[in-house]
Amino acid sequence: MSAELRTTYLGLELESPLVASASPLTGELETLRALEQAGAAAVVLPSLFEEQIEHESVEVHEALEHGTHSFAEALTYFPELDDYNTGPDAYLEHLAAAKTALGIPVIASLNGVTPGGWLRYAELAQEAGADAIELNVYHVETDPYNSGAAVEDRTLRLVSRVRSTVSIPVAVKLSPYYTAFAHMAERLAEARADGLVLFNRFLQPDIDLETLAVKPGLKLSTSDELRLPLRWIAILHGRVPVSLAATSGAHTVEDVIKLLLVGADVVMLASVLLERGPGCLRELTTGLRAWLDEREYASVEQMKGSLSQIAHPDPAAFERAQYMRALISYSPGVRDRSTPR
Ligand SMILES: Cc1cc2nc3c(=O)[nH]c(=O)nc-3n(C[C@H](O)[C@H](O)[C@H](O)COP(=O)(O)O)c2cc1C
Repeated sequence: MSAELRTTYLGLELESPLVASASPLTGELETLRALEQAGAAAVVLPSLFEEQIEHESVEVHEALEHGTHSFAEALTYFPELDDYNTGPDAYLEHLAAAKTALGIPVIASLNGVTPGGWLRYAELAQEAGADAIELNVYHVETDPYNSGAAVEDRTLRLVSRVRSTVSIPVAVKLSPYYTAFAHMAERLAEARADGLVLFNRFLQPDIDLETLAVKPGLKLSTSDELRLPLRWIAILHGRVPVSLAATSGAHTVEDVIKLLLVGADVVMLASVLLERGPGCLRELTTGLRAWLDEREYASVEQMKGSLSQIAHPDPAAFERAQYMRALISYSPGVRDRSTPR
């Protein structure tokens, strides 16, 4: 008997822990079908952004009030976003079409930071058939007078608001940059988040030295980025009553296995799917099953969390002791190439 790959995420029963994360691949019906056929157990649609929705309502208001756009400056960067997901109405249409076309759960993604008018889109997404909402709170706090506590409170209020608006599960996709991440995770659970998606990849801007302009720098991830979600999922598993999704740096079968071992309920994939195409899900599914069979695990459920911090014989492995061990274990084998021969 081959190992059982089923897992539960946000209360949804999934055939396997492999989920297609939000990316342009989940923005098209054709690629969504290909993802399902290759073995994605659920899909997260690209985000609909707070700015897009708020902008649209301002635009409509302006047109009705003045017959013109007086927010010209704000309008300049929205056409680019509209190229990404074609705006709020088309987003809901895409969601409804995805639900019709696919047999697997479809998770809608809302991306924003302030409780506002755009939140009714959580309700509209539910009406359009979303099986769950992923709320991405990507934010860079630059105001020197805004404290961490204030930012956290705002996020918690937002999550509570979404949670009380819809009856479908809500997951929160977060950055790792919290002083006390475990506490924030606990407070999110108290705010009734059903799951945490760890972590948002922060895309740091770069400088173009030709034009002296700040340019966005999107590079796909590598497996090296896996260690951040790996550590935090290990720490939170079994401690905070939420589902845990790993995102950032899962590329290979080994990556998927490691994340499940520390306690991820699902492993979300974007870069590897963009790089290698949806077909690589077959290889990941087969590889995961083969590994479980070889180790005589009966199921993903059985191995899930067996190397999490609460289960680990050496809990310090995920804390400061490991940091010290890592520094001590480094052997400076590389010669300084800057020294002339
Ligand atoms: C081109 C591209 C577009 C993305 N769009 C979104 C998005 O709309 N919403 C979102 O929450 N994440 C988005 N992401 C982030 C991915 O869902 C994922 O969390 C991140 O890339 C880390 O996973 P990976 O290492 O498998 O790529 C995007 C990533 C890429 C590469």
